Amino acid sequence: MTISATELLTGLRWRYAVKAFDPSRSIPTDTWDALEQTLVLSPSSYGLQPWKFLVIDDAALKAELRPHSWNQSQISDCSHLVVLLAKRKIDGSDLDRLIQATASTRGIEAAGLEGYKGMMQRDLVDGPRSQTIGSWASNQVYIALGNLMTAAALLGVDTCPIEGFSPADYDRILGLETSPYRSAVVCPCGYRSADDKYAALAKVRYPLSELIEHR
Ligand SMILES: Cc1cc2nc3c(=O)[nH]c(=O)nc-3n(C[C@H](O)[C@H](O)[C@H](O)COP(=O)(O)O)c2cc1C
Repeated sequence: MTISATELLTGLRWRYAVKAFDPSRSIPTDTWDALEQTLVLSPSSYGLQPWKFLVIDDAALKAELRPHSWNQSQISDCSHLVVLLAKRKIDGSDLDRLIQATASTRGIEAAGLEGYKGMMQRDLVDGPRSQTIGSWASNQVYIALGNLMTAAALLGVDTCPIEGFSPADYDRILGLETSPYRSAVVCPCGYRSADDKYAALAKVRYPLSELIEHR
């Protein structure tokens, strides 16, 4: 199955970072289910999926989070608020989880994946990248964020990526302080308000000729 290049670009140009959502509109269940699957289907380094996604549709909880999000209205007015969580640490249990899942999903022996496990261990657990594993996990989460925004646009759903929030306050309110996961980035999803003047603003993008170089 495929969509045309024109359909793709139409969807990408339709998307913008929504400043005002229509609080009266909610995303239908089948559309939302597809967006949840989009998150699950996102690729990650080694396939380790160092993430979780909190979907908040409770109005009271959204209202509680808004003051800790630079008071941005998108937090309370969206249909579904996604808080994308990154794993704080990666250790042997994360590698075992993936090896077991791979073995059972593909019907192969876990023992046959020892080499792969060793590679992950030497790189992410014992190697220099273990020192910056928080950034590595965030990088993976941002891939899911990008997928979510693009897929949403193709389904006619609006989004706004949000880094303007206090991760410490989110972690406290969402009970994540002792969790293996921390809040990394936020993505309200819903439908743009007819009054959102940002929808009509021209996109500011550097010329393709400056951004893309063929060699
Ligand atoms: C990681 C990330 C964090 C962002 N944080 C916010 C934010 O807190 N509030 C906001 O209104 N827009 C936020 N934006 C939206 C950007 O300002 C916007 O994507 C950019 O100006 C390009 O505009 P466009 O998305 O409408 O094409 C963020 C975007 C990204 C990718």
